[in-house]
Amino acid sequence: MRPSQVLRRATSYLERHGVESPRTSAEVLLAGVLGTDRAGLYARAEGLSTAEAKAFGRALCQRCTGVPLQHLTGRQAFRRLELAVRPGVFVPRPETEVLVEVALQGLRGVQAEPVVVDVGTGTGAVALAIKQERPDATVLGTDRSAEAVALARENAKRLGLDVRVMEGELLEPIPEELRGRVDLVVSNPPYVAEDELASLPPEVRADPELALLGGTTFHRRLAEETPRWLRPGGALVVEIGETQGDEVRAILLERGFRGVRVVQDLARRDRVVAGSVP
Ligand SMILES: C[S@@+](CC[C@H](N)C(=O)[O-])C[C@H]1O[C@@H](n2cnc3c(N)ncnc32)[C@H](O)[C@@H]1O
Repeated sequence: MRPSQVLRRATSYLERHGVESPRTSAEVLLAGVLGTDRAGLYARAEGLSTAEAKAFGRALCQRCTGVPLQHLTGRQAFRRLELAVRPGVFVPRPETEVLVEVALQGLRGVQAEPVVVDVGTGTGAVALAIKQERPDATVLGTDRSAEAVALARENAKRLGLDVRVMEGELLEPIPEELRGRVDLVVSNPPYVAEDELASLPPEVRADPELALLGGTTFHRRLAEETPRWLRPGGALVVEIGETQGDEVRAILLERGFRGVRVVQDLARRDRVVAGSVP
């Protein structure tokens, strides 16, 4: 069977099992198994070998049981980057690209060589995208998870982006000499509330709890801890859950942040809160 016929069958199999975007999922999985891209799939006339067919069948079965597509391919696109991902580390989401956009806008006012800290860096997605799009920035990332730190360092090395990744709690690993000199603290912290966890789709629950659970606790901690790291006029930009806009805005205002604003994502859901210290 040619790949295009295999794809038709695989799509209807995934559809029957209620998998989202069945056609795209089948294409991505088959391209991964055959070591090609989407165009290569449709150009290929020869059928699948027994080993390829088995590997594809296994991937389809895993996808149907809720294993995220990204864990099966080991890759996730994020802005202009292709990141390595694996189980045990949060898979970057497209909506977090808005966080990067707001962070980069904030840096446009900074003349040269801004200092940026990404708290809870995961795969390094946010830190690496900022470094790629603002190459003169000094970018540091922190994470409490040793697995995340290892993966973020691997991604930085493979992409040739000079981002320093440190293991530890929030801003604790940041060198003391940067106190009062940071231009921007950016974070996509864990923000799922405990009572929401059970209702999340299996793909989301495949991420580690350490990366998910937090409600607005982390926003509160960041609003308390970042002012002593930021230079006058420096900014805090945080991702939020869609229902947390009013609460997180109030948290930043309570802590004395100025120009606090809530930014929506492409689906018009509250997604980011940003504010600056006086
Ligand atoms: C929602 S994920 C975001 C990952 C990445 N920034 C992204 O957007 O793809 C949150 C990250 O925060 C990390 N984290 C959780 N608690 C932390 C803490 N107390 N200090 C530092 N990082 C923490 C988790 O390990 C996880 O990698």
